[in-house]
Amino acid sequence: MESAPPQSDVSKPSALRLVVLISGSGTNLQAIIDAIANGLLPARLVAVISNRPLAAGLQRAARAGIPHVALDHTQYSSREAFDAALQYQIDQFEPDWVVLAGYMRLLSTTFVEHYRSRMVNIHPSLLPEYKGLDTHARVLAAGDREHGCSVHLVTPELDDGAILGQRRVNVLPGDTVQTLSERVQREEHLLYPQCLKLLALGNLTIDKHGVPHYQGSPLATTGLDLTGTSLT
Ligand code: GRF
Repeated sequence: MESAPPQSDVSKPSALRLVVLISGSGTNLQAIIDAIANGLLPARLVAVISNRPLAAGLQRAARAGIPHVALDHTQYSSREAFDAALQYQIDQFEPDWVVLAGYMRLLSTTFVEHYRSRMVNIHPSLLPEYKGLDTHARVLAAGDREHGCSVHLVTPELDDGAILGQRRVNVLPGDTVQTLSERVQREEHLLYPQCLKLLALGNLTIDKHGVPHYQGSPLATTGLDLTGTSLT
């Protein structure tokens, strides 16, 4: 009698392996942890790495039982030396994607090229508007009626890579930096797991030129508008 085939994962696509880089509180990391725990994101957090040893996000990783590493950038003589050490650490975990979630350091070109088309970032604006810092204050100062967040591929130019997805919020009368940033962050916590899920399922793909496609067609320059949709 033939024995039954072993109950292994060979017939199932394996979960996307993610290394998340953080510098601070890690609320986006938490959203990814929760989405995976709730069975909504077919991914595996293989490591969390922080350039700041006291980043609260490291405790989130610890609580979730995720391997976590603090790599203190102040102990390195140059950006290049630190990025080389970081790259070495990341590659030990063999990720499919490197996920920047509040990682507050500029990246050297060598590092970015190494992860070309497999590194994403979340940014608190509707890119290409408001690259860089202080996005909420700048949106308020400009009197914009709309704001939001974007997930994009990372390229050597700051906040400039192809956009995968966005979620929009209205700017309300009386909004402050605090109220607006809280509203945008709620959207970030939906947007990041959503985009990662589309990558995990193969609905979003990146071609050899670094151009994102959704279900086989090139994406619009503003990516997918996921406003109002839920992670299911
Ligand atoms: C987020 O607002 C993200 O858009 C920006 O940094 C912040 C990180 O927050 N890149 P957290 O550490 O995920 O709470």
